[in-house]
Amino acid sequence: MKKNRLIQYITWFLEIFTEAKSFEANPILGNRLLNRLGLHVIRMMIARLITGFRRWLLGWKISSEHRRLFRQHGYLRISNVLPPELFKRLQIEGESCWPEVREFIQGDTTTQLVFLDQQKLNQLPAAKALCSSSHIRNLLNYVASTGIRPWPHFLRIRNLGGLSTDDPQKKFHSDTFHPTMKAWLFLEDVTADKGPFEYVTGSHRLTFKRLLWEYRQSIIGRDLDERYAARGSLRIEEKTLASLDLGHIERFEVPANTLVIADTSGFHRRGIAAPHSSRLCVYFSLRLNPFIPIPLPDSRPINHLAETLVAEHVAKTTQRRDDAKEASATNIR
Ligand SMILES: [Fe+2]
Repeated sequence: MKKNRLIQYITWFLEIFTEAKSFEANPILGNRLLNRLGLHVIRMMIARLITGFRRWLLGWKISSEHRRLFRQHGYLRISNVLPPELFKRLQIEGESCWPEVREFIQGDTTTQLVFLDQQKLNQLPAAKALCSSSHIRNLLNYVASTGIRPWPHFLRIRNLGGLSTDDPQKKFHSDTFHPTMKAWLFLEDVTADKGPFEYVTGSHRLTFKRLLWEYRQSIIGRDLDERYAARGSLRIEEKTLASLDLGHIERFEVPANTLVIADTSGFHRRGIAAPHSSRLCVYFSLRLNPFIPIPLPDSRPINHLAETLVAEHVAKTTQRRDDAKEASATNIR
């Protein structure tokens, strides 16, 4: 028993040097005294420095204009990213890929997804062509600050209406304490009634005011009311943004075939949507240990291992469509 306890403490300690973020699940990360002494903000600062270095190493693969826009805003938006013919084929694949859908429900929103592992991509030539595009890969890898293959999904957000409106993704939040990448290639026009993605411009930057806010949040971290916040995905009220010198909210009402890539350590949320609306996209994510000093290489064993772990995570945190139940901890947007 004592041995098990010891192993548990060693594990919690080692998690300090990983992407682990939950104040609630890890009593070291959630320890008030340690966070008063700066544990959370020191992790943030080191992770930013390392991620900045890793992005610098990968920066030559993208244009200086994209680097500048990303540094300034925390996101990139690229219209007409795919040739029309390829985009049309991708739309058809996206529309017809749903027999194996998995889903989870958060408040009044159902998130349905199909993880596109290599096996699936081999059956979906347009999706495979998208994932093989070096132009898109380089942009995704730059923001993710690593070289491995991003994890693609077909993703459909369904707004149920008439149920609970307590969708945690509709509050402004940061996904985690370190820079991370999510991207959406929209397969249909995103209009205001479809609940567009919203991002607080420039909120990916770790300013002194942001650091101070994070410091205060971390001290009460494990006792925060909002359970996602206690798990390390901090929530912020819209009215508080001004005190961090933030205010401009970019709403991505965009035409189909637009790619949006964001550092979701910046504040973002899912916009309010009309009941029974939905939207379909290809969704990419890539989140790794922020303390690894250099970008991981695009190597087959690493990609395979990561893909296996993501598939397991999706299986664990979602239900098959007929068996769906209340939300997992997955944080899509
Ligand atoms: Fe999010």
